[in-house]
Amino acid sequence: MTLPLSDEVLDRVFRRARTVNSYTDRPVSPQVLREIYDLLKWGPTSTNQCPLRIVWCVSEPAKARLAALCAGGNAEKVLRAPVSAVLAMDLAFYRHIPRLFPHVPDAQSWYSGQDEMIKESALRNSSLQGAYFIIAARLLGLDCNPMSGFDEGKINDTFFADTPTRVNFITTLGYGDPATLYPGAPRFDFEEVNTLL
Ligand SMILES: Cc1cc2nc3c(=O)[nH]c(=O)nc-3n(C[C@H](O)[C@H](O)[C@H](O)COP(=O)(O)O)c2cc1C
Repeated sequence: MTLPLSDEVLDRVFRRARTVNSYTDRPVSPQVLREIYDLLKWGPTSTNQCPLRIVWCVSEPAKARLAALCAGGNAEKVLRAPVSAVLAMDLAFYRHIPRLFPHVPDAQSWYSGQDEMIKESALRNSSLQGAYFIIAARLLGLDCNPMSGFDEGKINDTFFADTPTRVNFITTLGYGDPATLYPGAPRFDFEEVNTLL
């Protein structure tokens, strides 16, 4: 039987984890970005389609390009964070299904000509991979501020022109500064939003 994880891990990933507003000066090494990806990639997606594509804005010019396309206070957050990532979805993900789902190579045909289903599936599965991203970052001791306040069309034009890739959401990343947290917000209790049938 698998033993439960320690309270320390559960707190770090969920119970005491927060969405942060700012970060300490501690740099984020390129190796850590690779470690985040090498964990999140194991999370499940439909037909193992793995639609997530990530653009890491690490350099100051890259962060400035992204910040210019963000709404309100999000721009400043992107500029000040050690790293910001654009989490996007490849709408032509099904090209890779023979490689990624080799035990059912014909699965590629399930998507053929199904534009609405492709979009829905890419959004669903890249969002799941975005959640795996946050969990992986937290497990590695980092913090995130996922954000959807940005100009979607301009991000697509700037980062994904002439490709079938489209932005899902963005996030800042680093070692969080607890001094600037908002007060903790509540969550629903089990009884309020769960149904046992
Ligand atoms: C998909 C998504 C979009 C979000 N968009 C923004 C945003 O545009 N700007 C921002 O400051 N925070 C944004 N947030 C942060 C949420 O408000 C925050 O995660 C939520 O209130 C929970 O906070 P907590 O983790 O500290 O409890 C977003 C979070 C998610 C998951």
